[in-house]
Amino acid sequence: MAPRTNGRAVQVEDTKICVVMVGLPARGKSYIAQKAQRYLQWLSVDAKTFNVGNYRRHDAPQPSADFFDMSNAEGERRRRVAAEAAIADMLGWFRQGGVIGILDATNSTKDRRKWVYDVCAREGIEVLFVESKCDDENLIMANIRDVKTTSPDYKGQDPEKAALDFRNRIKNYEKVYKTIDADGDEKHYTYLKIMDVGAQVIINRIQDYLQSRVVYYLMNLHIRPRSVWLSRHGESLYNLYGRIGGDADLSPRGHQYAKKLPDLVRKSVGGDRPLTVWTSTLKRTIQTARFLPENYNQLQWKALDELDAGVCDGMTYQEIKDVYPEDFVARDEDKYNYRYRGGESYRDVVIRLEPIIMELERSEDILIVTHQAILRCIYAYFMKKDQSRSPWMNVPLHCLIKLTPRAYGTDEERYQADIPAVSTWRGKGSTAKHEDPVPEANLGYSPVVTAAAH
Ligand code: ATP
Ligand code: F6P
Repeated sequence: MAPRTNGRAVQVEDTKICVVMVGLPARGKSYIAQKAQRYLQWLSVDAKTFNVGNYRRHDAPQPSADFFDMSNAEGERRRRVAAEAAIADMLGWFRQGGVIGILDATNSTKDRRKWVYDVCAREGIEVLFVESKCDDENLIMANIRDVKTTSPDYKGQDPEKAALDFRNRIKNYEKVYKTIDADGDEKHYTYLKIMDVGAQVIINRIQDYLQSRVVYYLMNLHIRPRSVWLSRHGESLYNLYGRIGGDADLSPRGHQYAKKLPDLVRKSVGGDRPLTVWTSTLKRTIQTARFLPENYNQLQWKALDELDAGVCDGMTYQEIKDVYPEDFVARDEDKYNYRYRGGESYRDVVIRLEPIIMELERSEDILIVTHQAILRCIYAYFMKKDQSRSPWMNVPLHCLIKLTPRAYGTDEERYQADIPAVSTWRGKGSTAKHEDPVPEANLGYSPVVTAAAH
């Protein structure tokens, strides 16, 4: 049978996968689960996380450490009920067409893993265990401090006491925890074991393409502090004329932005730390990056080139409407999926950006100088924006966006250069060359800092 894509960005055939998280508390399981969910949703794969802790909280909102002691029969019973409820919901979701369900719990005993495995096997669902194993005491303590003392489990409690209780919770889990295949009798499972945040990984019995995508993505995650800076190229001559695509030079104001960019970057970095710069292969991004300091390593990526407008390349929106009226309407109706004749859709762009996302996850500080559509797609990945809305997002010219990933989200700061530029944002139905964006086009972003560089 010919492989099919179900209209998704990656080939999934009829695969259903349950990703079962494994590991002691505070090992980053929820962090990994939400990263995987985001990555898959960005690729239009239907993915959902079922966090057993959330189910347990219905019944035991703020349990103390002894609730998690295996010899506490009542605690055991209630934890089992919570796991059953999460799995039941997950199976219901799979029956409605879900593709990758992520079961976020400790699943730290062999019995628990066997139970989940058997339940899934009966429903024809593949199981991929993902274990995070980490013995770095300092990191565990930092995780407890950063995310556990502020969890709903300890709401209103003294952080010191919460941290102590959480350590006791971990001790109770340690009494029964078995790392996957510790006894050599879990070899038949498909699993990825991530040790010390990826310093070492073990991959066992990966079965298909989608599993291998997930595994490869998770292998590349790191938690070292870093930021990603995004900027469109300076205003181009085509921007001035309201023409799309092409390979135009910068306008005089675009050149001014290029000269200003090093200042803007230095200000947002807060020092002289060198960044790695990625541009597209088009003149306008290369010209924009050319005054950045020489110790910034620069790399050109074809994958960062602007969305290919095919036969419409070089036209104004009015010309497109005149020559291809049906296409003009079709694009407005479904901008994410509309593919220009002989060119690309936003969905196509996401597929070609996948290696960029992978490389970004592996890297530390990166500055990307790219184009409107490309920036929208990268931004949507980090900021969890809905794919159907992101093609309508306003990304002003001459603005540097700094994104800083945190444990459960991404901080954003915007630095607007004090150099005017035309607007290239376009509302539905409009053929105006330059139009003021409506407030919704800002997609609800609320920058932490907006600084002007004079
Ligand atoms: P619990 O079992 O209590 O739900 P958990 O294992 O789900 O705990 P998280 O809530 O995900 O733990 O912990 C988040 C913290 O873990 C973040 O501070 C994140 O930086 C860190 N982290 C992310 N990945 C890893 C990893 N592979 N190993 C250790 N810590 C990690
Ligand atoms: O107008 C500038 C530009 O970068 C064009 O080259 C590109 O076709 C367009 O933006 C993408 O934006 P939209 O998807 O809103 O047409």
